[in-house]
Amino acid sequence: MIRILLIGNGAREHVIAETIKRSVHDTALFSCMKSNNPGIASLSDDVLTGSYGDREEIARFAKKHRVDFAIIGPEDPLNNGIVDFLKKKGIPSVGPTQSLARLETSKTFTRNLLEKYDIPGNARFRAFSSIAGIEAFIGGLDGVVIKPDGLTGGKGVMVQGDHFQTKGEALEQCRMILEGHASVIVEEKFEGEEFSLQCLCDGTTVVATPPVQDHKRRFAGDRGPNTGGMGSYSLGDHSLPFLREEDIAQGLAITRRVAEAIHKETGEYYKGVMYGGFIVTREGVRLLEYNARFGDPEAMNILPLLKTDFVDVCRSVIDGTLKDLNMAFENKATVCKYIVPKGYGFPADHPDALSTSAKIEVSDTGDARLYYSSVDKREDGLYMTTSRAIGVVGIADTLEGAERMAEGAIAAIRGPIDHRPDIGTQALIDKRIQHMKGIRG
Ligand code: GLY
Repeated sequence: MIRILLIGNGAREHVIAETIKRSVHDTALFSCMKSNNPGIASLSDDVLTGSYGDREEIARFAKKHRVDFAIIGPEDPLNNGIVDFLKKKGIPSVGPTQSLARLETSKTFTRNLLEKYDIPGNARFRAFSSIAGIEAFIGGLDGVVIKPDGLTGGKGVMVQGDHFQTKGEALEQCRMILEGHASVIVEEKFEGEEFSLQCLCDGTTVVATPPVQDHKRRFAGDRGPNTGGMGSYSLGDHSLPFLREEDIAQGLAITRRVAEAIHKETGEYYKGVMYGGFIVTREGVRLLEYNARFGDPEAMNILPLLKTDFVDVCRSVIDGTLKDLNMAFENKATVCKYIVPKGYGFPADHPDALSTSAKIEVSDTGDARLYYSSVDKREDGLYMTTSRAIGVVGIADTLEGAERMAEGAIAAIRGPIDHRPDIGTQALIDKRIQHMKGIRG
């Protein structure tokens, strides 16, 4: 019996739990959640509900169940040092220590690491802890991106042309960020198409999973505010329609160099997920940011396709034997669309913000996979909260089939819900291809 602790309560952790339970090994799953996810709970042998900051309580729960290892889903517990804490209690984790998780939690750390070790793909950037010097630096950039240095739930990045227009407005944004954060990073803006490359790393070996494209904007046509991600797709050939083979190879090569550099820099081996958010530009692949965990929604695209036993993958990450494991994925297309409450993404004072605690009815969703995110199962049914509710995933031989499967399932969910109908459609993908053609020239 392999006894596993899973930390996290979103759709990403629901698919992780499902992938653990697909293992040929006899497993027992113990889940630590901030709020009860009925999907994860139904797959778990025991559940602890509480704060990710309560490391003592998590460790006690893990010890009580004599877990062999832990898998850390979200960034918050990584940032709280849960991996270090469990390690001291003799429990290894799939997930980096607090220091190594700076790859995600400190944008400055990562940009500096790429610069120091001369790793390609970096942006022109500077970190500022006061407003002095920002105006001059911005003046030398064609387009500007501003990021608070720290965790922002994927919603803190501000891009010229989208979130502000002029360099004066950029300066104003920096001023505002510095009121609430110790520092702000100012970077050059890249033109291109984004892709997520989720890699597994055992400290020395880095293995890539198929690339995925996420959709951050709330509304169809890439309009509206940024969200945690409204949906994503992947293709059966394990590429994306606007990528060249060398683009994926470049993303992987950058990540391998980063794994090597982070070891040189800290003396520690990175064990966990290195999820590179990349952008392919006219000049090649550039790094937008790293996350120290699987993507949400992107985990729902790749984990259901994993042919290799996930428990073996986790053990290889911990044992440092990933190079001996052949990690394989089915050649299927996937489309994930998030069901959200209608008011999701609007600011709290907007008239359309939020239909909280609304009930939803799920009937026949066919072969689509449903992964619960922020839902509450009560005696009289399933309720949404204010956040993303259910990740609906279609899997088929073709993208069209996967998209149809996801839409068919969404039609079987009733309530005050919304989703992005354009994700995974040929029309949107053609737009991406044309955009990239224009950029490559
Ligand atoms: N897909 C965005 C994220 O996981 O941060």
